[in-house]
Amino acid sequence: MILDGLDYGVSGRTLEKGLARLRIWDLKDYCPARMRVDDRPYGGGPGMVMRPEPLRKAIRAARNSLPQGSAMIYLSPQGRRIDQDTVEAWSREPGLGFIAGRYEGVDERICERDIDEQWSLGDYILSGGELAIMVVIDAILRLLPGALGHEDSAKDESFAHGLLEYPHYTRPQEFEGQPVPDVLLNGNHAQIQHWRQQQAILRTCQRRPDLLCERHWWMQDLTCLDAWMYPR
Ligand SMILES: C[S@@+](CC[C@H](N)C(=O)[O-])C[C@H]1O[C@@H](n2cnc3c(N)ncnc32)[C@H](O)[C@@H]1O
Repeated sequence: MILDGLDYGVSGRTLEKGLARLRIWDLKDYCPARMRVDDRPYGGGPGMVMRPEPLRKAIRAARNSLPQGSAMIYLSPQGRRIDQDTVEAWSREPGLGFIAGRYEGVDERICERDIDEQWSLGDYILSGGELAIMVVIDAILRLLPGALGHEDSAKDESFAHGLLEYPHYTRPQEFEGQPVPDVLLNGNHAQIQHWRQQQAILRTCQRRPDLLCERHWWMQDLTCLDAWMYPR
């Protein structure tokens, strides 16, 4: 599922170019004959829990293949929330191991001894960690040098500077009575840059004011806001 899902678009091309290598350790290969990878929870209750024996073996095998010091990360709704800074930091790591849970999750003894960190996609529950792994790996792969067609594509995107990205327009110049803003058509790059910065700040104020609290403000940001509030 993970290899198929990532064999597409930017992530597929990045892997094909050899900019990163992906390897799967399938729990079934580490499960003794007739043992299931899951079992009923001690203490009763609904659902199944992933047994520790195959998981620990698989994690040890992964650690032996990954570069020394690679973090073993369990993607879990109980982990810290992943954001763009997290995936940027991960994109600079020489290696990482991700563990996908199923059912009610993994036996707690694995969390205590075999897992270095727990990270979450957000405050909602997926039925399995494979999708979470695909999301995270896609976000990491597109940040690797050479992954995107244009090196600047990732630099301007939402969250890269603590702001949401400015709006985009393409042809036609007018669409069912909706024109493209004039400033984008005049070829004046300084004005276009100024307008984009202004739009990025404004839409971040409107949609994600929480991002602004942590942002370092520059004089040019304030100039953009000033020009919007007091147009000449
Ligand atoms: C059904 S969930 C288990 C939820 C767990 N019983 C709980 O309440 O915390 C099964 C697996 O999906 C993955 N998963 C579910 N939601 C996730 C999220 N928000 N972020 C990352 N992984 C998630 C984890 O690997 C988890 O072990």
